[in-house]
Amino acid sequence: MATMVLPGLLPGACRTPLISLLLVCCLLPPGAPGQKFPLKVEVQSPVVPAGGSFLVNCSTDCPNPNLIALETSLSKEPVGNGLGWAAFQLFNVTGDTQVLCSGFCNGVQMIGFLIITVYRFPERVELLPLPRWQPVGENLTLRCQVAGGAPRRNLTVVLLRGEEELSRQPAVGEPAEVTVTVLAGRDDHRTNFSCRTELDLRPGGLGLFQNSSAPRQLQTFALPVTTPHLTVPRFLEVGTTWSVNCTLDGLFPASEVQVHLALGNQTLNSTVESHENTITATATATASMEQEGAQEIVCNMTLANVSWEARENITIYSFQGPILNLSEPSAPEGTAVTVTCLAGPRVQVTLDGIPAPAPGQPVQFQLNATETDDRRIFFCSATLQVDGEILHRNSSVLLRVLYGPTIDQAKCPQRLTWKDRTIHVLQCQARGNPDPTLHCFQEGSRLEVPIGIPFLVRLNHNGTYSCKAASSRGTHTITVVMNVWDRNARAVSIVLGVLAVLGVVTICAALLYVFGVHRHSAIYHVNQGSTSLPLTSRQPEEAVGEDPSTSS
Ligand SMILES: *[C@@H]1O[C@H](CO)[C@@H](O)[C@H](O)[C@H]1NC(C)=O
Ligand SMILES: *[C@@H]1O[C@H](CO)[C@@H](O)[C@H](O)[C@H]1NC(C)=O
Ligand SMILES: *[C@@H]1O[C@H](CO)[C@@H](O)[C@H](O)[C@H]1NC(C)=O
Ligand SMILES: *[C@@H]1O[C@H](CO)[C@@H](O)[C@H](O)[C@H]1NC(C)=O
Ligand SMILES: *[C@@H]1O[C@H](CO)[C@@H](O)[C@H](O)[C@H]1NC(C)=O
Ligand SMILES: *[C@@H]1O[C@H](CO)[C@@H](O)[C@H](O)[C@H]1NC(C)=O
Ligand SMILES: *[C@@H]1O[C@H](CO)[C@@H](O)[C@H](O)[C@H]1NC(C)=O
Ligand SMILES: *[C@@H]1O[C@H](CO)[C@@H](O)[C@H](O)[C@H]1NC(C)=O
Ligand SMILES: *[C@@H]1O[C@H](CO)[C@@H](O)[C@H](O)[C@H]1NC(C)=O
Ligand SMILES: *[C@@H]1O[C@H](CO)[C@@H](O)[C@H](O)[C@H]1NC(C)=O
Ligand SMILES: *[C@@H]1O[C@H](CO)[C@@H](O)[C@H](O)[C@H]1NC(C)=O
Ligand SMILES: *[C@@H]1O[C@H](CO)[C@@H](O)[C@H](O)[C@H]1NC(C)=O
Repeated sequence: MATMVLPGLLPGACRTPLISLLLVCCLLPPGAPGQKFPLKVEVQSPVVPAGGSFLVNCSTDCPNPNLIALETSLSKEPVGNGLGWAAFQLFNVTGDTQVLCSGFCNGVQMIGFLIITVYRFPERVELLPLPRWQPVGENLTLRCQVAGGAPRRNLTVVLLRGEEELSRQPAVGEPAEVTVTVLAGRDDHRTNFSCRTELDLRPGGLGLFQNSSAPRQLQTFALPVTTPHLTVPRFLEVGTTWSVNCTLDGLFPASEVQVHLALGNQTLNSTVESHENTITATATATASMEQEGAQEIVCNMTLANVSWEARENITIYSFQGPILNLSEPSAPEGTAVTVTCLAGPRVQVTLDGIPAPAPGQPVQFQLNATETDDRRIFFCSATLQVDGEILHRNSSVLLRVLYGPTIDQAKCPQRLTWKDRTIHVLQCQARGNPDPTLHCFQEGSRLEVPIGIPFLVRLNHNGTYSCKAASSRGTHTITVVMNVWDRNARAVSIVLGVLAVLGVVTICAALLYVFGVHRHSAIYHVNQGSTSLPLTSRQPEEAVGEDPSTSS
């Protein structure tokens, strides 16, 4: 309840609000002397929302009042009266206004007035747009505009970073604009800025009314001092899968960088990873035939409408070959074999030391396959010059020559003399491709002797052998004669031989003696030779014992 009282001085006057106001303000100080009974102006609250309505009760304690009326510019409606009072409903209050009650008490005019304060919330609270990208370390000015709102002296504008109050200022002007300058930092990236109005009507008993603007998000950035670093191979062979890395350090926020990687005018699919202030883009691609030649790789990184670029040259080449070919990988002995080495364009080949006449041309030669060419390896080397660098590649091929079978006479003794019951090895070898089999069979009995393996020589091994090498290409046979001596038979023959010699010697001695006796005494002795027989029978045995070492 608020009341204001005016002394009743001017009967019938104050028909218009303007005059009333003049009277109130200039002529009639409140509580002027002479007004015996005051005229009270009562409202529920002197603070009303704009557009609202309110009830005014004009009342007096004068015992004999009359003509109680209400002066106002607003539309009004009487809602009741009684002794010493009259009540009115006022509508559509739009601005601060004054209501004035008048009446007469015993012929003396009474006046009472009251100032009504109208409050209204701001129609618009707006934080003006922020730059799309704000450099870190530079000042940023935030501007908040407030349109409407009353009473202005109770209206404050607060600028906010997130929930943090940056500044609090009164709203002045229409629209009111308040500003604050902040130093943009990395922490401000993606921070919401906003502003808020506060209509503080708590002294009027109504409370604190807040209106907030829509938040605006700030994007801050810091620029790198370097250009991107591009890692690419210098050369790239067609068909190979390769990767390219593009790295840029010292930029913020790395996660928001846009990367464009391209080979020539072809965009590469890249995966981008950011770690703190470093961004790495990696693309993997397979070099194709159409890309052959000098190419350029471009890495373009864009942040906050600023681009950084790195370019690298790359040479895509195709290196076909060397392809080394034999007209026949398995050639029969005596046939002509053609060896060819060829490679792709611009590739220089050299086959077994013979260079091609020009890059891109093949080398070829023919040879008459001989046994010595079996397992011969041919080499072909290829070189390609790419962007001043020489690349090498080799190829080799193995020739097989079909030959044989042949038994090596030198490695296969054809006459053997061995002693019975001794251990010997029959040495014999056959050559050929494919590998021949070799078997030695005794003629007649078909007894086989192992080749290259020690075996016990028996008398029955004595004989002539047919050694046959065989392969899919044919056979080759040689004859081996094996003489096996019976050790006893030999001893007997030696003893017999010695005896025969001794006999001859004895006979000769006897004859000489007989002739000598005939000449001198004619005495004849024949039984002397029999005494030497036991001695001579041992010597041949020892000689036989040493024999195997020489014959084997
Ligand atoms: C106006 O005030 C008088 C005196 O205080 C009271 O008797 C009367 O009921 C009031 N009228 C209304 C409508 O409130
Ligand atoms: C308030 O004013 C508006 C136009 O200003 C009018 O349309 C409306 O009828 C008025 N209300 C009352 C109760 O007089
Ligand atoms: C930012 O503004 C403050 C004053 O508001 C000033 O002192 C400071 O030098 C400014 N900084 C820059 C980087 O402009
Ligand atoms: C900023 O505001 C947007 C929408 O206005 C909201 O989606 C986002 O969550 C806010 N960010 C923060 C950090 O409050
Ligand atoms: C507005 O604020 C002033 C003080 O700043 C206070 O005296 C007055 O009562 C307030 N108005 C309302 C309607 O609360
Ligand atoms: C690119 O980076 C990836 C992972 O960081 C690595 O595995 C790859 O070897 C790099 N490639 C080049 C060409 O440096
Ligand atoms: C890329 O460049 C080549 C010639 O260098 C051209 O033939 C081709 O059409 C270009 N492709 C695109 C998509 O621009
Ligand atoms: C890039 O990736 C998309 C989808 O992941 C695919 O359709 C496209 O063929 C790829 N381009 C290249 C050049 O690999
Ligand atoms: C980098 O790429 C963007 C688009 O991705 C383009 O607008 C910009 O011109 C490019 N910058 C350079 C230096 O090529
Ligand atoms: C790429 O090659 C062009 C000429 O073909 C040359 O002008 C340029 O400097 C080269 N770029 C690099 C990074 O080597
Ligand atoms: C290969 O050499 C053999 C023996 O030297 C000869 O008989 C044969 O005719 C030659 N073949 C060719 C195709 O020259
Ligand atoms: C061994 O064989 C040869 C003929 O090959 C023959 O003359 C000789 O008597 C034989 N010797 C024995 C002990 O059989």
